[in-house]
Amino acid sequence: MIRTRLMTLALLLGADCATAQADTTQSPVERGKTALLTRDYNPATWRPNAYDDAWKHWGDLKEKPKDYARAFMDRYGLHPAPYDNGRFPMGVREGTTFLGKGMTVDCMICHGGSINGKSYVGLGNSTFDIQAFYEEMGRASGGKGKTPFVFGNVRGTSEAGAMAVFLLSYRQPDLSIRLNRLDLGLRDDMCEDVPAWWLLKKKKTMYHTGGSDARSVRSLMQFMLSPLNLRETFVKEEATFADIQAYLLSLEAPKYPFPIDRELASAGTSLFESTCARCHGTYGDKWTYPNKIVPLDVIGTDRRRFDGISRAFGEHYNKSWFGEEKRGNQPLKAMTSDGYQAPPLDGVWATAPYFHNGSAPTVHDVLNSKNRPKIFTRSYRTDAEDYDQIKLGWKVRVLDKGADASMSPYESRKIYDTTLPGRGNAGHTFGDHFTDAERRAVIEYLKTL
Ligand code: HEC
Ligand code: HEC
Repeated sequence: MIRTRLMTLALLLGADCATAQADTTQSPVERGKTALLTRDYNPATWRPNAYDDAWKHWGDLKEKPKDYARAFMDRYGLHPAPYDNGRFPMGVREGTTFLGKGMTVDCMICHGGSINGKSYVGLGNSTFDIQAFYEEMGRASGGKGKTPFVFGNVRGTSEAGAMAVFLLSYRQPDLSIRLNRLDLGLRDDMCEDVPAWWLLKKKKTMYHTGGSDARSVRSLMQFMLSPLNLRETFVKEEATFADIQAYLLSLEAPKYPFPIDRELASAGTSLFESTCARCHGTYGDKWTYPNKIVPLDVIGTDRRRFDGISRAFGEHYNKSWFGEEKRGNQPLKAMTSDGYQAPPLDGVWATAPYFHNGSAPTVHDVLNSKNRPKIFTRSYRTDAEDYDQIKLGWKVRVLDKGADASMSPYESRKIYDTTLPGRGNAGHTFGDHFTDAERRAVIEYLKTL
């Protein structure tokens, strides 16, 4: 017993046995795929039985639901793994704690989604209730299940940025732990939508504001800033994350699975090229991507995400091990930007809801700022019947009022209320002048990307 504990401790302290030795006969892409889909990077903080016991915190269920795997995925908005992940949904896995085995999450909890009955690694998870998941896994582990700040305000979005700010505020520049937290201006009302990984290969800068060089490997390691990870672990895993990045760069957008009206799409091509391409680029074999960051006053979408990651955070990041990264002799530091990056639109049919805060449920809404739904809910399922092939995105039910005090927080998070902080749906007025027929044509064209 003591021996296993010591072994576990040794693993956590960075002894080499935990990492599968890099297989040099494989390509970086293959190694990255294995590293991403078979390992955890944050030591487990939940008990081994947390997955099986979570249902005890779902209300007053008398017994464990019959098809538990399905019920668990429905409760939290998780998806079947399209690779071998044992009996767990994508993003949930067994890991190691100081005391032996436990449960943890991996990148796919946010970066794995499904649509039309098919799961994809790299499709942002647009159905995840991260708040309920952390609270109830915490309670199923014998804790109070309180998060130190809000992890998710509205289902399908997360406060991933706040997580990075919070975790870095407990680190010295050399990544050793500091006991008193630095004030880096944490905000937990940014309501972030998850970008699709297959877009990364076109990008020169990444994150919604284009605040990082897209070549940065260390930036991706912010997601393993659990206080249980020591400085040495970061140094040791940098090569693994370079492989993971190579794998992300190999991902391709999924093709539209429903019929496309080719004639209408070709009418949409010229409208797109004359109105949209200057920011979103052109597509096909000779694609172009201008990597434009559009100033806030031009784009006009909600500014909370822009303001929410503070200058103090950027400065601390740049002073730290993360900010020392170089490609050749070029430093890859966090940068300031003046707005939001216009993303490439490959596979855009699959990546609803839209904008950095997921405030527009369909492409049709993106292209008509005057008529966007203001308060709405959706099934939070991802089957063909939940998908709107005409408007391109999720079917929603428009509500005439937001959540009220009688609703449970779980039910309230299913309501997207664009009058609340971080959730504004204004701006991006570039499709407003289209006639309905023109808008339909552009949408048809976008299905082909
Ligand atoms: C809690 C959810 C969550 C987890 C876990 C997570 N991410 Fe993300 N990721 C996000 C969100 C949200 C963004 C967008 C952040 C922003 O710009 O506001 C993002 C952005 C990114 C981007 C930039 C994409 C782009 O095109 O701008 C990459 C690359 C990325 N994540 C990789 C990873 C990797 C690798 C892991 C695991 C080690 C991971 N993420 C874990 C939520 C998550
Ligand atoms: C001036 C630059 C600019 C023009 C012109 C423009 N866009 Fe955008 N677009 C952006 C920016 C910036 C965003 C991201 C805004 C945000 O997330 O807050 C965006 C977001 C989008 C999104 C949502 C992407 C996602 O994954 O969330 C779609 C779809 C889109 N634009 C389509 C179009 C179409 C179609 C046109 C032409 C009618 C167009 N855009 C014209 C800058 C532009």
